[in-house]
Amino acid sequence: MRVSIASDHGGFDLARSLATWLTEQGHLVSDLGPGTVTSVDYPDYALRVADAIASGAADAGVLVCGSGIGMSIAANKVAGIRAAVVQDVEHARLAKAHNDANVLCLGGRFTSEDDGRAILGAWLGATYEGGRHDLRLEKIRRLEAASHEADPRG
Ligand code: RB5
Repeated sequence: MRVSIASDHGGFDLARSLATWLTEQGHLVSDLGPGTVTSVDYPDYALRVADAIASGAADAGVLVCGSGIGMSIAANKVAGIRAAVVQDVEHARLAKAHNDANVLCLGGRFTSEDDGRAILGAWLGATYEGGRHDLRLEKIRRLEAASHEADPRG
C-alpha cells in the first residue's frame, strides 16, 4: 500500500520508527515530516497527510502527535477524511471494519513501538465490512457536504 505518515514533535520518534517498519513490511512509504524533532504545529502535518489521502496520492495515512487527539481533530476537517485515534488493536480493527477510517492517529507519548506496530498492522490488515455501515458513512458525507455549503467562506 502507499502509506503517508507525519508527526509533530510529540510523535516524532514513534512515527519514524513506524515508517521504517512499514517499509520493511513492503509498503511504499511517504514520510511527510517533520525532518527534525523541533517543536512544530500538528495541524500543518495533519494537513499534509490528509491532502495525500483526499487527492488519492496515498491509500492510507498515519499521524502521530503526543496523544493522537490533535492530529485527528485537524485531519477530520478535510473533506473525505475519516481519522480515528486508536490505542489498541481491537479499536484499530473496528476503525477499518465499521468506519472505513482512512487515517490512523496514534499518541506517541502513550504508545510503545511494539504496540504501535501491532495497532498499525491490525488496521492495515482489516477490511471494511460495508453493508449497514455504508449508509452511515453516506450520512457523514452528507454532513460534510452540508457544512461546506453553509460555510460563507466556501
Ligand atoms: C504537543 O505538545 C501536543 O500538544 C501534541 O503533540 C498533541 O498531543 C496534541 O493533541
